[in-house]
Amino acid sequence: MRNDRKDAPAILFLCLGNICRSPLAEGAARAAFAKAGIAATLDSAGTGDWHVGHPPDHRAQAEARRRGTDISGLAARQLVPEDFTRFDLILAADETNLRDALAIRPPDATAELKLMLDLLPGRKGQGVTDPYYGDDGGFAATWDDVSAVADALVAEASSSG
Ligand code: 4NP
Repeated sequence: MRNDRKDAPAILFLCLGNICRSPLAEGAARAAFAKAGIAATLDSAGTGDWHVGHPPDHRAQAEARRRGTDISGLAARQLVPEDFTRFDLILAADETNLRDALAIRPPDATAELKLMLDLLPGRKGQGVTDPYYGDDGGFAATWDDVSAVADALVAEASSSG
């Protein structure tokens, strides 16, 4: 249980490229925390560096817009060891992201690291399917998953505040 509300939760969403799943998760979480009126530090990153500085994939931007959220201003960045002390919780989209994050976790890490879908009943151990190589429908499924995760985070933050 959190001791009081002065410590806003700091949560980092992690995927491979930081242009599809994790920026959608960040956008969904920003919207959900704002709607609930709960302060939080929210960010996203990728384990890879191919898209550093790029905005989210245009299909991710379109899906977020369709759901009422603008993620066009986000820019991809790569996970760094310091993220393990800056954030309370790092939520990886899939097992590969989790394993790659563990590989750079510093000895003084304080962040908890787990899968995004571990927060959802019946989804523990599952990965958020990467929509990058699929059709546009994949992005709708990604949004459904990450917005459920965002709602679970808000519920947790409001019950432990
Ligand atoms: P993300 O999707 O990890 O959800 O951002 C991907 C984005 C780019 C690539 C792979 C996955 N890529 O190979 O460039």
